[in-house]
Amino acid sequence: MLKEVVATRYVTPLREGGSLPGIVEADDLGTYVMKFTGAGQGRKTLVAEVVCGELGRRLGLRVPELVTIQLDPVIGLAEPDQEVQELLKASGGLNLGMDYLPGSLGFDPLAYQVGPAEAGKVIWFDALINNVDRSWRNPNMLVWHGDPWLIDHGATMIWHHNWPGAQTSAAKPYNASDHVLAPFGPDIAAAAAELGPLVTEELLTEVVADVPDEWLVDEPGFESTDALRRAYVAPLLARARSVHERISLDAPTRTRPSQAPGWLVGRLAPQPAGDEQSGKGGRR
Ligand SMILES: Nc1ncnc2c1ncn2[C@@H]1O[C@H](COP(=O)(O)OP(=O)(O)O)[C@@H](O)[C@H]1O
Ligand SMILES: [Mg+2]
Repeated sequence: MLKEVVATRYVTPLREGGSLPGIVEADDLGTYVMKFTGAGQGRKTLVAEVVCGELGRRLGLRVPELVTIQLDPVIGLAEPDQEVQELLKASGGLNLGMDYLPGSLGFDPLAYQVGPAEAGKVIWFDALINNVDRSWRNPNMLVWHGDPWLIDHGATMIWHHNWPGAQTSAAKPYNASDHVLAPFGPDIAAAAAELGPLVTEELLTEVVADVPDEWLVDEPGFESTDALRRAYVAPLLARARSVHERISLDAPTRTRPSQAPGWLVGRLAPQPAGDEQSGKGGRR
């Protein structure tokens, strides 16, 4: 079960994201990025955050701690922004919180280098969960204390929006050509060999158990939340066995336009061919 905290103060909205997450303080004196049940994307986004975030963590990837946050909409009464106030009003009850990483920077593939082993693991993981949201346009990775961290797993497992087609959809190929880590020579075979066997029925049952019941109730076609939890396990388990064979990668270059600030792009020399394989980490 995820730790449960109570929101004590709404600090500010985060406007970079599409879903208007907000920074809140909680009764454990922690600061969290909060994703709201009342947001337009719906509660399945939060289910995906928990299932995939906790799965990633158990596979050894860096994912900030996830908690559930009890929200009394009254804390938003003083909020001057109408949009935020509506969101808080619609989100009473349990919401999702992610530990706020203070001082983190958005990952930029032109300013930060990742080794082939780590790049392979992240791409394999994103293929497993059908993540369409880790492209160079929208990396959803933060660099904190010198390490890359994975955030924002809301747009994954597209198949949970259409259960009758879930098994077929989960068998689909994954095109990683636009993935933000595609240019780093990802060693997908090594990642599959290491991470694939870790994705067992037991592990998946454990991560799915972390999803609060109230985000799962009343799903059409399921008689109980337990039945719905079980439905998440099967497609992920099947996909873990063979997804590495279905990952495609066009030869990427590192000279793509990026979100790097203009002053930085101009100063970086093109990378010599083959550098992707060197595996050296750290900033350059
Ligand atoms: N744990 C965190 N620590 C610090 N900043 C974060 C954290 N999570 C998200 N952010 C910031 O908030 C932005 C939006 O969050 P994200 O989870 O990507 O939401 P969205 O679904 O709206 O894209 C991110 O791009 C990042 O700048
Ligand atoms: Mg995002």
